[in-house]
Amino acid sequence: MIVAGSTLTALPAGIVPGQPLTALAPMQDVTDLAFMGVVAHYGAPDYFFTEFLRVHSMSRPEKHILRSIDENATGRPVFAQLIGEDLTHLARTVDELLRHPIAGIDLNLGCPAPKVYKKNVGGGLLRDPEKIAEILATLRAASPGLFTVKMRIGFEDTRHFDRVLDLVNEHRVDLLSVHGRTVKEMYRSEVHYDYIAHAVSRVRCPVLANGNVTSPAAAARIVGDTRAAGVMIGRHAIRNPWIFRQCREIFSGQTVTPLTLANVRDYVERLYRATQRPDLEERYHVNKMKKYLNFVGQSVDADGAFLHAMRRTETERDLFSVCDQHLLADPARPFAPEPYPGVIARPNCETPHADGCSLETITA
Ligand SMILES: Cc1cc2nc3c(=O)[nH]c(=O)nc-3n(C[C@H](O)[C@H](O)[C@H](O)COP(=O)(O)O)c2cc1C
Repeated sequence: MIVAGSTLTALPAGIVPGQPLTALAPMQDVTDLAFMGVVAHYGAPDYFFTEFLRVHSMSRPEKHILRSIDENATGRPVFAQLIGEDLTHLARTVDELLRHPIAGIDLNLGCPAPKVYKKNVGGGLLRDPEKIAEILATLRAASPGLFTVKMRIGFEDTRHFDRVLDLVNEHRVDLLSVHGRTVKEMYRSEVHYDYIAHAVSRVRCPVLANGNVTSPAAAARIVGDTRAAGVMIGRHAIRNPWIFRQCREIFSGQTVTPLTLANVRDYVERLYRATQRPDLEERYHVNKMKKYLNFVGQSVDADGAFLHAMRRTETERDLFSVCDQHLLADPARPFAPEPYPGVIARPNCETPHADGCSLETITA
């Protein structure tokens, strides 16, 4: 059932009020209804963000993204992320989204795909703070409820960082997520947590720290170092969907529940069933699964044997036979809390997908 759109004026409480917040990072081709449901099964984040909705003169909110809002049964708030620069159509899209049960509107100021930033949207906007000012003013005025921003720390350097942070204050942004890399640094450089700490001290709204939050221990360390209000986790929630529950454990001083390879076998099965669609041929579905498993495999074994075997499968039967061999031969063996060093999810290039961010090319 669709209920009224966001008129929230305060951020929703987290699952454990008072703890640092957790959010599943928006990820194109990943954070759809099925994936949000699977993550919630193992321990929901406090907040979800949709994949970006493209906004231009011809755009209409993409149906599959609306499903992740309308049919979301996780009970957790979902923020709808927009990417675009056309003020009229951004405002129109907010109006349309307000008919859906969103927690708020989020603006993408970070996508590093060249096809995207060359249109001066996403990360491309970080070169033009005055355009950001117009967009923030428009979205703030159009949003009766919460309005949030997700940004990188700059385009090729951080020269406009403070100016953008000041705009966040000026336009009363309710929550800021900071991925601590520039656009040009893509996905694999070191993360500049000192810049996230700087944002925390400069803006009035809560800040979520994003970038390489690999484990609950890393989340606790990053929150401690940056004084951020919480963490936003992307690729490492694909690898470990228990990570949000584990964060709640560490934040409350409990021992983090260890995971086994048998737990991972359960995850693979659940993800396969959740992402199955009648119109998706088996080999395409297996290929899609391989993209998630690229991340999962980083914690299965230190020499990448599971990844090697998994990548060669073509059918559901082969895929699960490889899973049984590698995950159930010694089912109580630990699933490593951090990725094994040197086990890289392939492809290990960083040329993002033609028109966005994609599982095809982004690795950890
Ligand atoms: C496959 C993929 C798709 C992504 N799509 C989006 C997106 O739609 N919107 C966005 O703001 N960021 C997107 N990102 C960036 C992530 O939200 C996040 O900022 C980045 O991956 C760093 O966090 P992590 O180290 O926890 O993965 C995407 C990242 C990946 C790996």
